[in-house]
Amino acid sequence: MVEECVAFLRPRIGGIYLDCTLGGGGHAQAILKAAQGNATLVGLDMDPEAIRFAGGTLSANSGQVRLVEDNFARVREVLTRILMDRVDGLLADLGVSSHQLDDKGRGFSFQSGSPLDMRMNPASTLTAGRILNEWPRDDLEALLQRGEVQGAARIAKSIINYRQKKKFVNSEDLLSVFHELHLPRRRSFHPGTLVFQALRLAVNRELENLSLLLSQLPLLLQPNGRAVFISYHSLEDRLIKQSFKELGRSGVCKILTEKVVRPTREEILQNPRSRSAKLRAIERTVS
Ligand SMILES: C[S@@+](CC[C@H](N)C(=O)[O-])C[C@H]1O[C@@H](n2cnc3c(N)ncnc32)[C@H](O)[C@@H]1O
Repeated sequence: MVEECVAFLRPRIGGIYLDCTLGGGGHAQAILKAAQGNATLVGLDMDPEAIRFAGGTLSANSGQVRLVEDNFARVREVLTRILMDRVDGLLADLGVSSHQLDDKGRGFSFQSGSPLDMRMNPASTLTAGRILNEWPRDDLEALLQRGEVQGAARIAKSIINYRQKKKFVNSEDLLSVFHELHLPRRRSFHPGTLVFQALRLAVNRELENLSLLLSQLPLLLQPNGRAVFISYHSLEDRLIKQSFKELGRSGVCKILTEKVVRPTREEILQNPRSRSAKLRAIERTVS
């Protein structure tokens, strides 16, 4: 949803923009292009591979770009560290990047033989494998419930039973658990999709990080500054919607998307991974 992001952010010459989820740098590049290459772009990602890759994508504008490897939960600290304060526009395109998904070694997909890793930040010590092999049953059940997985108690029990016989090493181990459970197919989803997602959310503390970013929004945006959030599942979208509502009610911000914006049919055809994307935008009021 690059065009929609640019339309909401309205990048201008001399403006300061913060891409909290740099990924491959595609959105960042479009923001800079819209400002005729004459804006400052701060790009954040907790994945060093993304910082390296986007550094290449944005090399033509390297004078205007500051790339920082860090977690957007600490965004205020990051801005202070690089001697910046508020920004004119902020983007958070949440979740995993295509690069992360396509790299079998990172363990973000069901691909056969993928390690049970799922870390966006490879320096973190918590992996999906550690959760499956070490977490007590109650914690596993709570993790699955938080991810809105149906039958959380039954699945947690099966995980414990499985690891008493064999250690979880790769995606096949988890798929064996799903197979034994005969999980029901949900629409076109693989029955284990929500379990994978719940594990990923826990490994990367995705909902906690998003809440921390949202709580800092009023202090991050200049008056009239705008923020765009793109989420890919209802757990994230609910947090964004709720937080925007509160900011709108208190008069700190004005909601720009009364209804959530979805990708066009053309975009979904071109990039099927965009089909679940939901975009919401907000503007800081002058106070
Ligand atoms: C969907 S991708 C962004 C794609 C990007 N908009 C582009 O144009 O390529 C999300 C990126 O956000 C990063 N990310 C997710 N949560 C993060 C967090 N809490 N702090 C920093 N980066 C994060 C991921 O590592 C991933 O590279």
